[in-house]
Parts: sequence; structure tokens; C-alpha cells
Amino acid sequence: MAQTFDVVVIGAGPGGYIAAIRAAQLGFKVACIDEWKNAAGGPAPGGTCTNVGCIPSKALLQSSEYFEHAQHHFADHGISTGAVKIDVAKMIARKDAVVKQNNDGILYLFKKNKVTFFHGRGSFVRAVEGGYEIAVAGDKPEALVGKQVIVATGSNARALPGVPFDEEKILSNDGALRLGAVPKRLAIIGSGVIGLEMGSVWRRLGADVTILEGMPTFLAAVDEQIAKEAKKAFDKQGLKIELGVKVGEVKTGKKGVTIAYTNAKGEAATLEADKLIVSIGRVPNTNGLNAEAVGLKLDERGAIVVDDECRTNLPGVWAVGDVVRGPMLAHKAEEEGVAVAERIAGQHPHVNFNTIPWVIYTSPEIAWVGQTEQQLKAAGRAYKAGTFPFMANGRARALGDTTGMVKILADAATDEILGVHIVGPMASELIAEAVVAMEFRASAEDIARVCHAHPSLSEATKEAALAVDKRTLNF
Ligand code: FAD
Ligand code: NAI
Repeated sequence: MAQTFDVVVIGAGPGGYIAAIRAAQLGFKVACIDEWKNAAGGPAPGGTCTNVGCIPSKALLQSSEYFEHAQHHFADHGISTGAVKIDVAKMIARKDAVVKQNNDGILYLFKKNKVTFFHGRGSFVRAVEGGYEIAVAGDKPEALVGKQVIVATGSNARALPGVPFDEEKILSNDGALRLGAVPKRLAIIGSGVIGLEMGSVWRRLGADVTILEGMPTFLAAVDEQIAKEAKKAFDKQGLKIELGVKVGEVKTGKKGVTIAYTNAKGEAATLEADKLIVSIGRVPNTNGLNAEAVGLKLDERGAIVVDDECRTNLPGVWAVGDVVRGPMLAHKAEEEGVAVAERIAGQHPHVNFNTIPWVIYTSPEIAWVGQTEQQLKAAGRAYKAGTFPFMANGRARALGDTTGMVKILADAATDEILGVHIVGPMASELIAEAVVAMEFRASAEDIARVCHAHPSLSEATKEAALAVDKRTLNF
């Protein structure tokens, strides 16, 4: 006998688990199904983000940054450490413990909110009267009926054609986050977000890192001025980034990996490495969902087709997060999850795609929200720009990290903020002020008139807002 729920959520990544909690808060009887297994075979809710994405990558970025500071920056503060060593196994074990805390936290939240969790693979069986039958294939097979179904099955790493991940030498994000030792030579294909974050981790720990990027422009989606500044910093750190390459044959052998490619000048070249990370984007995941059984419509990329409000082609079936269009970001998935739960409850939420922040957690960090200068130019929009360098910020000097700047773009006539772009220390935290400002359609003048604590990095945002009107006080 199938158990009936008001809402069945398939996938417990940030899109799914947040949708389940919000739906339960709104009074629905909710089930959430997730198949991720921890090393012991038990449940590990949290999806890509918690298990092999946001959380473990930030744990390793932190460890590797401490290592780099101890090696290269402590001396400036008068601190001597002797030889600094890294115990990779311990670093990875700490990362695994951080992941587990998050997995356990989600299981606790399910209990607290009375969400029934099923560990296993959820798939559509058929449409039934007033809902859909969903099978759970796990340790204990179950049959559920969901009056409403939210699909949040996420995404998987894209492999190079003909070069499957073996997670030994050819690594996806999964293997890149659990290397047992620092590779001497690390090759990365794709200088996007994962390439830069993972490249930074292993470079800081001593690997010789080369990134091969297909596009001729570095971080083409980022504001050009910001991308240039970031590239300068990465070059200085010794992160080798080759742009405009065309990757050819990739061969693995006893010694490692050989990558044949054509460089930007059209010359044939090869790169030898011990390990290769392939980070060329991700593909929506509907494996095992049995979408065909109910006629759930997918597009040519395999993403579930949804409207602006995350409705699929089937009444009562919704989809959120990486498995649908839009940026593949945890906070975007969460916002969609909350909005869908509220829509099911008859509310009218709105997800503002113009104010979704992006962050790349390198050092310097890169963060932005809204439009870039090149986008405004292409759209023919009249704008004013104000920048303020961290070099002129007292807190950044005290931190010993003065790379980068804050840049604010505002409408030439109304002064409304159209985009904020930051490269520098704690950009991930600083961008929140810009998001709030843009959500409230603030002007640059509004930020310029708000009192910011001194000394703080956030003063650079205030000064950039003053710079829009050509009246910085500290530069
Ligand atoms: P996922 O997190 O992928 O979750 C989907 C879940 O569904 C998984 O647990 C999967 O096992 C489960 N599932 C799939 N099919 C089924 C099925 N049929 N039955 C049962 N369960 C199923 N984003 C950020 O915003 N910030 C970051 O710092 C960041 N860092 C990242 C770092 C890396 C290395 C990677 C790879 C990604 C990173 N992301 C980051 C992106 C972020 O992880 C994703 O955007 C986010 O996880 C998407 O959430 P989701 O809920 O849509 O899907
Ligand atoms: P990405 O889309 O960020 O970058 C992929 C890069 O690979 C691009 O620069 C692209 O031009 C290049 N590329 C594609 N095919 C290529 C080829 N054949 N040869 C050489 N270069 C090629 O994708 P990535 O880094 O895999 O990350 C996937 C997604 O995960 C991100 O887009 C982001 O949504 C999410 N993510 C977010 C993070 C964050 O928010 N901090 C961190 C990591 C991932």
C-alpha cells in the first residue's frame, strides 16, 4: 500500500531539502527522497553542494590558505614557524568531518520539521488520480504517492568526449576533492569556477598547476576589469592559465596523463601531468528518474523544461535547481525550492534572477551581482562607474591583503545600481550588501550615505559608491 504525501521531493541537495523544509513549515505532509551514500553506505543528504561541491571545496580552500599563510605570510607578522608541512590525509579527514556535520544537520532538520526522509533512488512509476506514484529503490523499497512532486535531482560533471572520469588520473570535482597526496604536476581543463578553486587548493599545497581553457578570454562572464585584476593575481601566484586552446587526445599511462592540444597560436603542444581535473561545466541529472513514464519534458541538454515559476509540463510536478535552466548555484536552487513550496501553498513568491550573486572563492575572491560593464555597453545603457582599490582601505592594509577593488556601476540618469563587482579579500561577504541594495533598487548615493564601520573592508564599497559621483574621500 503506497504512502500518500502532499508533497514528495526527489533529491535532497540545496534545492530539494530546502523545498521539503519550507513545504513542511507551510503545513504539508512531506517526503524527501535522496540516494547519496556516505562511505559506510548510509544516507548523506545535501547533494552535490554538501558532499562534493560547495562545502568540501571551501573546507580545502581554507586549509590550503592557512598552509600558504603559514609558509609565506606569517613571517611578515613576526611569526616564525620553522618548516611548514601538510598532512594531506588529515586535511581530507577534516574536510570529510565538515561534510558529515552538514549531512547530520540536514537529517536533524528533517526530523525537526517532520519531513519523512527516504534513502534510495526515487523514480516516477505513473500518474494516478490526484498525483503521481513514486517508487523508492533503496535498502527498503517503498511506494509513495505525491499529490505534488518537486524534482531536485541536480547535475553531474561533464566529461570530455571519449575521456570518462576514472577518479584516479582523470578527476571530476569528486576525485579532485579527495586526492591522497599533492600531485607534482596537476593539469586542469577549464578555467571556470571549479578549475580556479581546485587549482588554487592544490597549487597552494605545492602542485605545479596548468589550466587549459578553450575560450580566448579569461572568465568571460566576469566584468572585464575585474577578470583582468584577478588574472594578474593568479599569474603572480604561479597558476599557469593557457587561454584559447583546443584540447585533443587525452591519454593515461603508468606515469600519469598526456594531453595533446593546440595552443592559441595554432601550434601543436602537449601537457604531461600526474593528474587531470576536467572542469568544463556540468550537465543536468535525470538519471534513474524514469521521466518517460509520466512524459516529463526535457530539453536537448537533458534539463527539465520549466516556466519562470518552476512548473514542468505536468500538472503538480515542479523542478528546481541545477536540473533546470539558470545558473548552477546552491543559493539559486534554494530560492527556487522555497518559492515552489510557497506556490504550492497558494502564495506568490518571486525569485529575482537579476540579484543572484556569484562568488569564486579563490584568493583574491571574486564576487559580483547584476550587470557587467561589457553587458551595459552591449545594451547601449548609459552608466557611471566608480571603483575603489583595497590598497587604499585601512582594514585591508592591516590584514596584509590589498589586492583588488570594488566597482559599482550605476545608471547615468537615475543613479540606480546596475552591477557591483568585487575582486579582493572577503568579496564573498562584501557582495551581500550589494545584493540587498540592488534588491531594494538603491542608488549609488544610498550606499554612499550609509554609515559603514571603520576600519572595515565594507568601507571600500561605500567609497566605490562615492567614486560613482567622483567624490571618494580616501583615494
Ligand atoms: P544537487 O546538490 O546536485 O542535489 C541533487 C541530489 O539529488 C543529490 O543528492 C542526488 O544524489 C539526488 N538524486 C538525483 N537523482 C535522484 C533520484 N532519482 N532519486 C533520489 N535522489 C536523487 N554553488 C554555490 O552556490 N556555491 C559554491 O561555493 C559552490 N561550489 C561548488 C563546488 C563544486 C566543486 C561543485 C561541483 C559545485 C559547486 N556549487 C556551488 C554548485 C552547487 O553544488 C549546485 O548548484 C547545487 O548543489 C545544486 O543543488 P541541487 O539541489 O539542484 O542539486
Ligand atoms: P564553468 O562553466 O564555470 O567553467 C567551465 C570552463 O571550461 C569554461 O571556462 C569553459 O570555457 C571551459 N571549457 C568548456 N569546454 C572546454 C574544453 N573542451 N576545453 C577547454 N575548456 C573548456 O564550469 P565548472 O568550473 O565545471 O563548474 C560547473 C558549475 O558549478 C559552475 O558553472 C557553477 O555554476 C558551479 N560552481 C560554483 C561554484 C561557486 O559558486 N563558487 C564553485 C564551483 C562550481
